[in-house]
Amino acid sequence: MAALVGRTTKQALLRAKPALSNPQAWILGSLAIGGGAVVAGAMAQPTFASDLVLHPPKFPWTHNGPLQSLDHASIRRGYEVYKQVCAACHSMQYVCYRNLVNVIMTEDEAKAEAEEALVEDGPNDVGDMFERPGKLSDHFPSPYKNEEQARAANNGALPPDLSYIVQARHGGEDYIFSLLTGYSDPPAGVKLMEGQHFNAYFPGGAIGMAQALYNEIIEYSDG
Ligand code: HEC
Repeated sequence: MAALVGRTTKQALLRAKPALSNPQAWILGSLAIGGGAVVAGAMAQPTFASDLVLHPPKFPWTHNGPLQSLDHASIRRGYEVYKQVCAACHSMQYVCYRNLVNVIMTEDEAKAEAEEALVEDGPNDVGDMFERPGKLSDHFPSPYKNEEQARAANNGALPPDLSYIVQARHGGEDYIFSLLTGYSDPPAGVKLMEGQHFNAYFPGGAIGMAQALYNEIIEYSDG
């Protein structure tokens, strides 16, 4: 919806351009058209190939109001999605098991969750690293030992750490949601390299991550 409105406004702007001689007049003109300063500002900039990207619509998240917060059931389901799907490729190295306590688990549940994970520790008294069951103070273990291993497993692309990904991307959760559900066949003329997939929300369109979410692939603890 928002993307559609944006596009219509851009077309209106493009049509309006020849009649106006300088950028200020152009901006005023676009305001009159109802485009708004943001779009006008964007149009005054040069266009880069990476601008050819679909902007995510604004979704009415229940946690977005000034007095709202994320609800616990949703956080738990999000964690379950991460653990069952995303954790195969993405780390979340800034989150510890203790962060789950009183958010989506009791302390005992979080302890048991941590113990299921094998965490590297050491060196021991003969200098070797070893693995042990996780503790509440441990961070979530990463799927790869280092960046090289991560890239080697993903055709050269690096799966970013997801701890702060919502804050790290323009459009926040609207972008992440659109990206995860936005895979399609590439439009005619778009060539993808091996290991790339088409996603109109990803800058440039060619993303090194295959579609990860499909209906009914995840089992939630709350049904
Ligand atoms: C099979 C491995 C794999 C799985 C599973 C996977 N990803 Fe990715 N993901 C990648 C790779 C590789 C990239 C980097 C893509 C690139 O830069 O072209 C990536 C990139 C991303 C990005 C960043 C996109 C950007 O704007 O830079 C997000 C967000 C993301 N993944 C979220 C997820 C989530 C959420 C899940 C689980 C539902 C998931 N991924 C599952 C491999 C994976």
